[in-house]
Amino acid sequence: MPAPSSQPFCASSIIGTGSYMPEKVLTNDDLSKMVETSDEWITSRTGIKERRIAAADQATSDLAAEAARRAMADAGVSPEEIQLIIVATVTADMFFPSTACFVQKKIGASNAVCFDISAACSGFLYALQVARHFINTGNRTTALVIGAEKLSSLINWKDRNTCVLFGDGAGAVVIRRADESVEAPGRVLSTVMGTDGTLADVLKVPGGGSACPITPENVASYPNTIHMEGRETFKHAVTRMLEASQQALEIAGLSASDVSLVIPHQANARIIGAIAERLNLPLDRVFMNLDKYGNTSAATIPVALDEANKAGRLKKGDVVLLVAFGGGFTWASSVVRW
Ligand code: ACO
Repeated sequence: MPAPSSQPFCASSIIGTGSYMPEKVLTNDDLSKMVETSDEWITSRTGIKERRIAAADQATSDLAAEAARRAMADAGVSPEEIQLIIVATVTADMFFPSTACFVQKKIGASNAVCFDISAACSGFLYALQVARHFINTGNRTTALVIGAEKLSSLINWKDRNTCVLFGDGAGAVVIRRADESVEAPGRVLSTVMGTDGTLADVLKVPGGGSACPITPENVASYPNTIHMEGRETFKHAVTRMLEASQQALEIAGLSASDVSLVIPHQANARIIGAIAERLNLPLDRVFMNLDKYGNTSAATIPVALDEANKAGRLKKGDVVLLVAFGGGFTWASSVVRW
């Protein structure tokens, strides 16, 4: 049975998408000069060829604000019309204020209430669901939902197990209440979410928070960087993303054969391939851009959605399946009728 939070409800539509990727490209060959690895290993194990790295003076909110501006331009809405900004991130500018507050300041969305969500790679879909709840209750009608990460700030560049996987970037959508009687494009039909905190230690940044503040004594062991049990994460990612996809489709009254395009979290091409195979979907109905960007955590889905949108891969009426998995463990899936 799906969780109570997964019931389908009011009409919320994605009316604009935007993304911003930093200019600097770090290739697999560049990484092979930094740690003992190779383009062949990274490509065959993950599908990643290169990733983007934000400039030293770019914070997560800078990436997020640019993605937000582009999504607002695509939607044709002004900053004053935005009533809610949710930023999904694990690389907040600072502990507080929230990154969303900095985004508000940078884009001039003075009528918005702003906060962040921390659900690692599932963060964007968690944020989308929270925004839908605000819209459903009549509390807000127009929201910016942003996934943005500067993961390069959480990487131990001496750890080949993790440094080859991640990158920086931001994606955003504008969502707005839609008239239920009208077939508005971009309508979110369903969202399911799940969490298993018993596996919280499998993928984490252990230090820098209240459990383990950074001290002169522990700083040399890189506690404020990503620690991951890769194989364990891989196994759960496949199972949970598959389950979540099937549940979200069921709630929307659809099946996998109705799906025009799957936009999965971009962590590993093998994970994505395994899910497509189990859903019996050919790879030409699965969007992948991880070769260019690696895993940008909460940003992968909105960035991919924007690229698919701008490339004309989303036609009116298409069924789009979004699905994510990340640290926590957390997972989520949404079905959108474009
Ligand atoms: N280059 C060369 N060799 C490497 C590298 C590297 N970059 N990294 C690891 N290896 C070695 C390991 O040391 C190991 O060597 P050993 O057998 O001598 O010990 C060998 O390669 C195999 O290592 P595995 O970890 O078993 O490799 P695997 O095939 O599992 O691939 C990977 C590792 C790519 C990390 C994979 O497990 C994975 O993608 N896991 C899931 C990641 C994910 O989905 N994350 C999503 C959430 S992320 C978030 O929420 C922020």
